[in-house]
Amino acid sequence: MSDRKYAITEWEDDKEIMEKLNNLLKLPVVKIKPNRMKDYEAYFESKCKKSKEMTDEAKKYIPGGVQHNLAFNYPFPLAVNRAEGAYLWDVDGNRYIDFLQAGGPTLLGSNYGPVKEKVIELINNCGPVTGLFHEYELKLAEFINRHMPSVEMFRMLGSGTESNIAAIRLARTYTGKENIIKVGGAYHGWSDQLVYGLHIPGTGDFEAHGIPKGCLENTQEVFPNDIEGLRKQMEQNEKAGGTAAVLLEPVGPESGTRPIYKEYNRQVRDLCDEFGALLVFDEVVTGFRLGMGGAQGYFDIKPDITVFGKIIAGGYPGAGGIGGSREVMSYLAAGVEGSKKRAYVGGTLSANPLSCVAGYYALKAIEETDAAIKAGKAGDRLCNGLQKLIDKYKLPFVVYNQASICHLETTGLMFIDITKPDFMEQLVTRKSALELMGAAYTAEGMITLAGSRMYTSMADTDDIIDDALEGFERVFESIDI
Ligand SMILES: Cc1ncc(COP(=O)(O)O)c(C=O)c1O
Repeated sequence: MSDRKYAITEWEDDKEIMEKLNNLLKLPVVKIKPNRMKDYEAYFESKCKKSKEMTDEAKKYIPGGVQHNLAFNYPFPLAVNRAEGAYLWDVDGNRYIDFLQAGGPTLLGSNYGPVKEKVIELINNCGPVTGLFHEYELKLAEFINRHMPSVEMFRMLGSGTESNIAAIRLARTYTGKENIIKVGGAYHGWSDQLVYGLHIPGTGDFEAHGIPKGCLENTQEVFPNDIEGLRKQMEQNEKAGGTAAVLLEPVGPESGTRPIYKEYNRQVRDLCDEFGALLVFDEVVTGFRLGMGGAQGYFDIKPDITVFGKIIAGGYPGAGGIGGSREVMSYLAAGVEGSKKRAYVGGTLSANPLSCVAGYYALKAIEETDAAIKAGKAGDRLCNGLQKLIDKYKLPFVVYNQASICHLETTGLMFIDITKPDFMEQLVTRKSALELMGAAYTAEGMITLAGSRMYTSMADTDDIIDDALEGFERVFESIDI
């Protein structure tokens, strides 16, 4: 057992990172040399034939050819049929180091045996769902409470998206106030009220197609790290419905892609107290990945509502939930109780025994194996190694991590300035350059999240990270500068 409780070894200096990112944006987009890029593209054509065939066929029946946003990669999606520990295998038998981790839930590594055994036992005994109470609902809620004292009560739901919907509904019911404030760039799922200021701060309803304007009337966006801007917004809200909640991704928007200064969360907590708003920590990614106490333990801040997802069901389906004090959470009580004012939430498959068993044993295993600390060490090793390569090849790339959440910015796509007239052009150019980088990493045997984010897991040994660094080096030495 490590003597550390939290996996972050050092809080990165947000200003230094932003300076490097701004510098990256000033430079023309760097690209892989055309002959090397041809080799990488040839890899897909020659080695991934079955994936291509299958996903071409899927285009006839599935919009875009894949169901999952993260599976949509250049030049075509890979079809994966085996996952174990640190690796994924595609249908053509190629092996990859898995830095996608399905977007974050598999902190123990893929298909972790001891959790799988408990899930199979459960399936044999009662199947995945009954609609009635199961003892693992209790076990999971108790376990979370033991590690996150702010979660006196826990309500399990189906996904992070649903859980954020529930959190804002609960905050409004409890406070009687109307507005919710999020930080620009943050992702809290795809619900009508939260597809606002996605990815790039200041973009407001840019991506809110199919969402009536009215749905977004009480959603507001403030810029990351702008505590004065938040205060102003809350002051304005006092005259127009008040602020029910401020939502934070506690390591910064989009899983810390946009770094925040360390005291920011504390200052937001103070503002929430001053204005009588609830502080919602969206710990869908950070919950248990930074340590058993989540980001709230690391920052030593007590949110009013915590939103869970991903790891909460150990990589199995039905991953969501919200937690908070008895007083706040009592507004969610389930059951048919006509007269009491409550925030209505539900879900046929919410808190099914399978999700609860998987979540309980995954969290227990994370505690017993020190998985967050081990995954964090792998993240540090990966990012330190990448920084050395960046220096060696004199590249303008920017790398940083919050433990096992690793960021590698090679094009600055997420940081382009929306006020500049060439915004759209920059968006297109930098996006396509990033797609090529992602494809090169894949051809070198590494799956990343959209070419710029990597999650490490407990299964990532030093040897595996060093293998990955060799792959990254082959890509970096092919850059045209
Ligand atoms: C911080 C955060 N909140 C919410 C969500 C939405 O969760 P889900 O995809 O389970 O709906 C995500 C998903 O990536 C996330 O990263």
